[in-house]
Order: sequence, then C-alpha cells, then structure tokens
Amino acid sequence: MLLFNDQFINRSHISIDPEDRAYQFGDGVYEVIRVYEGKPFLLKEHLERLQRSAQEIRLSLPYSIEQLEQKLVELAKSDQLVHGNIYIQVSRGVAPRYHGFPKNAQPTLIAYTQKNARPMKELTEGVTAITTEDIRWLRCDIKSLNLLGAVLAKQTALDHHCHEAILIRDGIITEGSSTNIFVVKDQQLYTHPANHLILHGITRQVTIEIAEKLQIPVNEVPFDQPFLLSSDEVFLTSTTMEICPIIKVDQQVIGDGKPGKITRQLQEEFEQKINSL
Ligand code: PDD
Repeated sequence: MLLFNDQFINRSHISIDPEDRAYQFGDGVYEVIRVYEGKPFLLKEHLERLQRSAQEIRLSLPYSIEQLEQKLVELAKSDQLVHGNIYIQVSRGVAPRYHGFPKNAQPTLIAYTQKNARPMKELTEGVTAITTEDIRWLRCDIKSLNLLGAVLAKQTALDHHCHEAILIRDGIITEGSSTNIFVVKDQQLYTHPANHLILHGITRQVTIEIAEKLQIPVNEVPFDQPFLLSSDEVFLTSTTMEICPIIKVDQQVIGDGKPGKITRQLQEEFEQKINSL
C-alpha cells in the first residue's frame, strides 16, 4: 500500500502529475524511518525533523506530527512490515511550472514501505570509503529532495568499489553522502558540528548519547582528511546503516584494518536500544 495524501491506495493506482514540484524542482522534504520487528524506531524524532525541514523551506505539512505518526504506523501494519524502512516525502504540490511558490497548491504527501534486512555483513566486517569534494548547497541541515550532490558523490564511491563517499568542504570533513562520519582518536570521538553543513542525523545524536553514557568524550569540532586518515577508528551512522565501521579510506587502512573497539562498544549499546523497542 501507499499513502497518497489522505488515501491508502495500491501503488499501481496512483498518478503523479508531471508538474508536481518534487518532480521538477526537488521542492520538498523527506524522511527515512527504520522498522525493527514491526516497530518504527525513533519515529517521533524523524517526524519532528520532517516538520523542521518543512518549516525551513516555508512549507506547512498537511498533518500534525501525531496524525502522521498514526498514519505511518497504520501503513507499516497494513504492509505487514517486519524489517525495513518507511519512506515519506512531502512536496509543495502541483502547479504550472514557475520557480516562485504557487499561490494555491496543496502539498503532495507520499509514504510507502520497503522490506529489507539489516546490513549485517557491513556491520560486522566494516565498509570502505573514499573522500570527494562536497559540492552540495549550504543548507545540508534541511532533508530536502534535492539530492544530486549526494547521488553524484555516492556514484563516485561505487565507481571506486567503495560503499560510501566522505565529503570534504574547504578542507574539512563534513559527512558522508547519506551518513554522518565519526572518528575515534586517543579514546575520544570527533564529528562535524551540527550546523548548516551537515544533516543533523538522528543516529548521530543517538550515538553521541550512547558515548556520553559510556563516558567516551565527544568533540563536535571540524577536522580534516589527514586527521581522519591518522585516526584509530572511523565509522558512519545512519538510519539504514546504523553504526557501521569504516576500515579503509582512500585505499588507506584505518587502525589495524578491522572494526575498532570503541565502534564495537557503541554498536553493542545501539543493539540494546533496538532490542528494547
Ligand atoms: N540518509 N547525512 C545525510 C546527508 C543523510 O542523507 C543521512 C540519512 C544522514 C544520517 O541521518 P539519520 O541518522 O537521521 O538517518 C546523514 C537517509 C537514510 C537516506 O537518505 O536514505
């Protein structure tokens, strides 16, 4: 099933207008929410971020957070989703093509589910990454439908047989193409500050909270590629990849080339959070 504005309908029955502003301008916002054992994880946090992203592009959501919460839970139930994702996007709606905001358009909301297993192999063995230039716009804190900078970066990584592209702006590591990046050095965590240059990842926030609970110091400060390459451990965080070790960057082995001890500790605590859902 698909949630299309206020209707639950079969995916083959919806029609997307070519003048929907999501289609022509990427004029909208989205979220990806993970479902474990049929239970959405951190749903409220994702919907609050959706609302913030919408506000930042001057778009009002067609429903309250509570209404959206109910609808997405219903969607996951009707799809009998056990392990997978819920995707939701809201665009500025349908109007004759013109850059300025349309006067009377209603937002278009689309939500659907995807069944998929957790990335166990990657979580256990770690993944590889390359660094590449961050060519995205300057409001990366908004989870907008404009993903071309991320798409091109990810493809560059795949072309190099790597899992993720780590982005560098003005010499500073910002984040991954669809993940946040952490480094461990001398038993401390380092990650880019949550400003306009990165998405304020929900998994990033959970990871910081776990680290604080474990009394691992967290430094939200800018750092560069040499710092990353000389670190003891590197890992990425995201809704779909959780806390995932990065064992090689730009062909250079990180630490001893195996997922690091602190990364493992954080993963274990994260696992407990999932299990206590
Ligand atoms: N990506 N940074 C970027 C640029 C992202 O697109 C994402 C999420 C993250 C991690 O945020 P969170 O922990 O809240 O998922 C960081 C989603 C999963 C995606 O676009 O598929």
